[in-house]
Amino acid sequence: MKIERWIEENIPSLANKTYIVTGANSGVGYHIAFNLAKLGAKVYLACRSEKRALEAIKKMKEEDASLDLTYLNYDQSDKESIEHFASYIIEHQIKFDGLVLNAAIYHPKEKKKMTKDGFPQIMMTNYLGVFHLLEVLGPYLTKLDEYKIVAIGSLEARNWKKDALARTLKQEYKSRTYRYNVSKMMLTKLMIYFASNSENYHHYAIVEPGITQTDITKNMPRLIAYLGKYFLKLFFHSPNKASLGALLALVDEDDNKPNYYVPRGLFSFSGFPKKRKLKRKHKLDVDYAYIVSRQALYDE
Ligand SMILES: NC(=O)c1ccc[n+]([C@@H]2O[C@H](COP(=O)([O-])OP(=O)(O)OC[C@H]3O[C@@H](n4cnc5c(N)ncnc54)[C@H](OP(=O)(O)O)[C@@H]3O)[C@@H](O)[C@H]2O)c1
Repeated sequence: MKIERWIEENIPSLANKTYIVTGANSGVGYHIAFNLAKLGAKVYLACRSEKRALEAIKKMKEEDASLDLTYLNYDQSDKESIEHFASYIIEHQIKFDGLVLNAAIYHPKEKKKMTKDGFPQIMMTNYLGVFHLLEVLGPYLTKLDEYKIVAIGSLEARNWKKDALARTLKQEYKSRTYRYNVSKMMLTKLMIYFASNSENYHHYAIVEPGITQTDITKNMPRLIAYLGKYFLKLFFHSPNKASLGALLALVDEDDNKPNYYVPRGLFSFSGFPKKRKLKRKHKLDVDYAYIVSRQALYDE
């Protein structure tokens, strides 16, 4: 089936809807934002680089000049930037229908870089930054009638280990890939925590995009990045197809817990999205993960 036809059959018009997509200037986030806008929504692209965000908007508008796209500055590795971003949403009363938490890094150039707030870069960017955003936005969310928070997870989130956050914060794991995996495990736990502790659990969803041809390997050594990109291109699906899970999560009105979407292909590597049950490991230690994250982030 063609992607356009799948969208036609599964996603209604989004005229009068508003969405925010983080990390929307490239890869999966770009296509989530682009598809939402093509369906008639107003879309805010929350990106750390103004230049890259405006280039993305220009490229989308070359296809359709009427798309309603706005750039907002947002650096998920920086508490102050996250707070400015949240204040902007609150002060301007942006009544969004959905927030897609897509921004992440996989393999930063520097092995053990710490952020300006003193956290390991991968963990802050992919997880603690999201945690902080949702904590700061929390009181505002209760004023919105309907909204969906959709986090882009990963296959790796299924391999939960209880001491993983503490060990990652102490930089005990050498592998950047493993630190990335831990950040996605934690992000998944956070969504399950919010879903379980909110009366309106259907506000939260997790989407695994599958293995996708993007520039996610861009900071790896040049040859590995090059091979990585073409390996993804040859064997796995396009970022446009990978964006469909987030579209489905945003519009799905089925309230059956949990809202968890994966590609329908073999091992959930690629394909059109489907809803599925969370694995047992996903549900372990959810409250514990929330408490240790709060302690780490706010020194409690
Ligand atoms: N590709 C895959 O196979 C795969 C598999 C599983 C899950 N995922 C997930 O899918 C999502 C999208 O990844 P992708 O494959 O599309 O890779 P990508 O093209 O590298 O997209 C990542 C996006 O996140 C942004 N970002 C990085 N650090 C940020 C920060 N500190 N603040 C704000 N934005 C930041 C990037 O902006 P810059 O351009 O400024 O760096 C970029 O727009 C990620 O959550 C990733 O973990 C991807």
